[in-house]
Amino acid sequence: MPQRSVVEAPNPLREGLRIKQSPEPCVMVIFGSTGDLTHRKLLPALYNLALEHPLPAGFSVVGFARRPYDDETFRQQALDSVNEFSRQKPVNPQVWESFASGLFYLQSNFHDPAGYEKLANLLNKLDQERGTSGNRIFYLSTPPSQYPEIIQNLGAAGLNRNRKGWTRIIVEKPFGHDLPSARELNRQIGKVFKEEQIYRIDHYLGKETVQNILVFRLANGIFEPIWNRRYVDHVQITVAENIGIEGRGAYYEESGAIRDMVQNHMLQLLTLVAMEPPIAFEANAVHDEKVKVLHALQPLVGRDVINNTIRAQYGSGWVSGHQVPGYLEENGVNPASTTETYVAMKLFIDNWRWAGVPFYLRTGKHLPKRVTEIAIQFKTAPLMLFKRSDAQGQVEPNTLTLRIQPDEGISLKFGAKVPGTDMQIRSVNMDFFYGSSFVRQQPEAYERLLLDCMLGDSTLFTRRDEVEAAWTFVQGILDEWQNEPRSSILTYESGTWGPQAADEFIWRDGYRWRRP
Ligand code: BG6
Repeated sequence: MPQRSVVEAPNPLREGLRIKQSPEPCVMVIFGSTGDLTHRKLLPALYNLALEHPLPAGFSVVGFARRPYDDETFRQQALDSVNEFSRQKPVNPQVWESFASGLFYLQSNFHDPAGYEKLANLLNKLDQERGTSGNRIFYLSTPPSQYPEIIQNLGAAGLNRNRKGWTRIIVEKPFGHDLPSARELNRQIGKVFKEEQIYRIDHYLGKETVQNILVFRLANGIFEPIWNRRYVDHVQITVAENIGIEGRGAYYEESGAIRDMVQNHMLQLLTLVAMEPPIAFEANAVHDEKVKVLHALQPLVGRDVINNTIRAQYGSGWVSGHQVPGYLEENGVNPASTTETYVAMKLFIDNWRWAGVPFYLRTGKHLPKRVTEIAIQFKTAPLMLFKRSDAQGQVEPNTLTLRIQPDEGISLKFGAKVPGTDMQIRSVNMDFFYGSSFVRQQPEAYERLLLDCMLGDSTLFTRRDEVEAAWTFVQGILDEWQNEPRSSILTYESGTWGPQAADEFIWRDGYRWRRP
């Protein structure tokens, strides 16, 4: 029998979709460089890019923050970040040395114009000494309340454009707190930067498996013809987390699950599943189709919100063998808070492809496990030839599951005959696992996104109208929830799959939530 061998195949997500290019020499200025995101994600991602994709010669990072550090302390901090959070370990001393020689620190308040003058001088110096050619990326990784003053100061210092090279700005989430604030932020950035300079980040779009949704749909001939209301019965999108709010009480109180996960990550997943094929795999063509899905969302307003959404908070309980406190007992949380840590909702997309197909979304913290998946349940066969008296148990509908994380892969459930003289049917799975087909490690989402920004490719970022369309849908829900009394917030025990009402919510339609 031939031996099954694991071949290190090229990853089509890396190799196939984009002509391989190296970014031009550039500098990335990180505002808020002493914060958690820089420490856990940005510096490790840049180091991994240095290790794997040759970053351009002279690539430099300027940390801009308030703490009294110097270049040396910033480099030491960066080394700590990489040692702790890098995907690739241990640190390669040669790569590190060359990477660290391009790290610089500038201490300043975000509101102080003198700090931006110093920044302009430093950037000019780096252009000359490290050959960065006037190409700049500004990364806003501070609390969002500081975005407006940073943007304004960049403009006032003339750093929003440069005669010699290109200038881009990356804006971290949360992008606004509601529709008016998102519009206002767009307006403020738009006064200083042109839309093609603005990269609004949603790290879910940098995940390999999220990009694979489009590859799966559009690089294969057999799925697209059945990807519509004639064949699809309903869709379930689950983003479950076993972690709680992880000490981020103050942030989460202002956010809640709908702002933290639904407005951005989950609606992005939805658009990729539901969009029409774009005319090209190119930023504006992709954004155009995603925006159409968001515009086609049936608005949830008034009573529809009550009937089509469930929100709840975790109580105490046990998660992964640990006893955990309830949300109201977390640090920084108001004991009378009505902020939700779980949301389930049903929505419809009013267009020809999806009219009448329910999309069920749910996300929550302190659920039994971490899992993100999209399950497409297809309609049953038009005529069941195998009567229930012959078949043991029910013939389950076909379900295609795109597993985003962990155990990344795709599986298709179908009915098969159990070997034997009688006609028993059982559901079986056809499985694809990333881990076994592509032996290589997947890059972290931030690696892909930072590299794309350096290359000037904004396909995996969100456009102005896209963010506003997502907020428009969410705003209707927020408005209605605000009018609801405290008692409408349910509680679920930590370590369970959410409140009982969420099960009843989907049973009413004759379905049940998947147990991933
Ligand atoms: C962030 C949210 O955007 O996404 C967090 O603020 C959440 O609350 C995180 O935990 C989930 O991301 P991931 O990549 O771990 O699924």
